[in-house]
Amino acid sequence: MVDRGENIRAAAEAYPTFAAHLQVAYDDSVSTTTARTPRAQDDGGRFTRWVPLPSEATLRRLAVASLLTQGGIIVTGGAVRLTDSGLGCPDWPHCTSGSIAATPEMGLHGAIEFGNRLLTFVLGLVAAAMLVAVVRTLSSDRARRDLLVPSVFLLCVIPAQAVIGGITVWTDLNPWVVMFHFLVSAVLVGVATVLVRRAARPARMAPARVGHPWLERLAVLVLAATAAVVYLGAVVTGSGPHAGDPEARRTGLDVAVVTQLHGDAVLLLVGLSIGLYFTARALGSPGRSAAAAAVLVAVEFAQGLIGVVQYRLELPELLVGLHMLGAAAMVFAAVDAWYATRWLPSVQPVR
Ligand code: HEM
Repeated sequence: MVDRGENIRAAAEAYPTFAAHLQVAYDDSVSTTTARTPRAQDDGGRFTRWVPLPSEATLRRLAVASLLTQGGIIVTGGAVRLTDSGLGCPDWPHCTSGSIAATPEMGLHGAIEFGNRLLTFVLGLVAAAMLVAVVRTLSSDRARRDLLVPSVFLLCVIPAQAVIGGITVWTDLNPWVVMFHFLVSAVLVGVATVLVRRAARPARMAPARVGHPWLERLAVLVLAATAAVVYLGAVVTGSGPHAGDPEARRTGLDVAVVTQLHGDAVLLLVGLSIGLYFTARALGSPGRSAAAAAVLVAVEFAQGLIGVVQYRLELPELLVGLHMLGAAAMVFAAVDAWYATRWLPSVQPVR
């Protein structure tokens, strides 16, 4: 017997606009067949009665805003380090023992460090808006339970990151703590990427699996290699000259040796990623898998080039900052490639 879901999936893939028509048709059928069921009643929920029901586009925009702000704070955190402003505010949670904010006497370093602290609130606001919007949908017939876990995770880890940032100050920029602070942000970028991809799916539509287990496994390997490269990169930073303060201690590891290790891991990652691309192609490029792998390989080459040039030029601040932006882009591209090997962009109505 022909599977109806399979037909819908194939048609939506063949005709990109079909999915949108399908959504409208499905909406109509839901409104006529289930509008009187308790699940379809939209009472606003117990805690979010005061919030208008967000549109799908609003959810998508909030998810993208989460991703951009999480990636952005990696770069601004890098700016704090690269301008030697890491101890611009020498205390935490107050900037100094006498003042919650930076004072003009503390100069540019104080302003830069305190500015970065304030950005935490922007991240928190975006994450809170995302979670409220998701919770608001739960009492409607457009419930987005699939967005709940990543939204809660993002909102909960932001205050934790503020505390870890405080510990970096209390430990006078201990390189291992600074490293941990950066790596947690990298994980947040990965989770925000999943949020963006899930939010791109219409409500009441279940995703269809790509269904190639070996492709999925290869993508997991790529993800693991990315994690190793990012970790080793952070170790290079912790051993290199840009500590965030001239007095801050370093890991004591030989920079040339850890850079070599970082570069070797990059070679492995590039090899695996190219393998992922060609495997996806050999399997007929299901969904976005080949395209996402191609983007990943392109980002790796760009990031690798910046890495080599910055090393040869003895780490000019601007290039190091660009390499940090590249690291955020890499996490996005690797998680996106993994996601694209698991889920098709086409959808099936939830039964
Ligand atoms: C896919 C490619 C690459 C990725 C994802 C990557 C990622 C990273 C990350 C996450 C950091 C730490 C950023 C921080 O903690 O502030 C870093 C630092 C660094 N990377 Fe890479 N990297 C890549 C390629 C390369 C290559 C090919 C080289 C050259 C050998 C290189 C050289 C460096 C150096 C020297 C640092 C330390 C910069 C500093 O002192 O602040 N990277 N990288």
